[in-house]
Amino acid sequence: MLSLFKGKTLNKTIIVALDFSSLESALTCLDKLDPTLCRVKIGKELFTSAGPESVKQATVRGFDVFLDLKFHDIPNTVAKAAVAAAEMGVWMLNVHAGGGFKMLAETRAALNSFGKERPLLIGVTLLTSFSPSDLVAVGVSDNPEAHVLRLAQLAKDAGLDGVVCSAREAGLLREKCGEKFCLVTPGIRRSQDENNDQKRVQTPSEAIASGSDFLVMGRPITKAKDPMGVIRSIYESI
Ligand code: C5P
Repeated sequence: MLSLFKGKTLNKTIIVALDFSSLESALTCLDKLDPTLCRVKIGKELFTSAGPESVKQATVRGFDVFLDLKFHDIPNTVAKAAVAAAEMGVWMLNVHAGGGFKMLAETRAALNSFGKERPLLIGVTLLTSFSPSDLVAVGVSDNPEAHVLRLAQLAKDAGLDGVVCSAREAGLLREKCGEKFCLVTPGIRRSQDENNDQKRVQTPSEAIASGSDFLVMGRPITKAKDPMGVIRSIYESI
């Protein structure tokens, strides 16, 4: 078993995105996955259609769940939503770093009562769907890289465990935010995979070399006939 920094092991580096519209289809996928070799991500589509039952079903099967609901609201509301997520037993959850220092710090403080059972709290910096002109349109004059770095540093200052970022920014964030900061990267494709709608992809080994801690991968795994075969081949390639 290979060790990654922060005491993690390489064999649970992959987080499979359960982007399904029903609990039934998510369960069909979960039953093909091995919880000792991957974690799972439940996002807005599955959570909106299937609710907390989706988290419960993944958890009882032994999976660590990343609840990807990207909370962004007034500090009190986000802190309480994060506590509700922690009570479901999720392993990781996220909030928009753009919600500001107070929202981030209050949410982090609200999770203190969970002690060692506290889920990892991760900030979303800039959605990879944003182009430089999209940023200008919402009044941000920084270039995307500078904006991502600013938000990552804000998240770190507020006590968050890390951020979601593009693997292409992982090297910069690793350098500026330190070894202990957790970097979660979507947009990962093996060379033989289709890019689908992902525009700026990196391979699993490139992402790990840039400093990623966790690789979020959906379709190359969930649409495969043998999802665990894909996961094993990725670990071999890293
Ligand atoms: O199927 P694919 O590997 O593209 O899935 C990537 C997952 O990561 C999806 O659930 C997507 O919503 C999520 N994600 C992303 N880019 C971001 C943040 C999250 O692709 N910047």
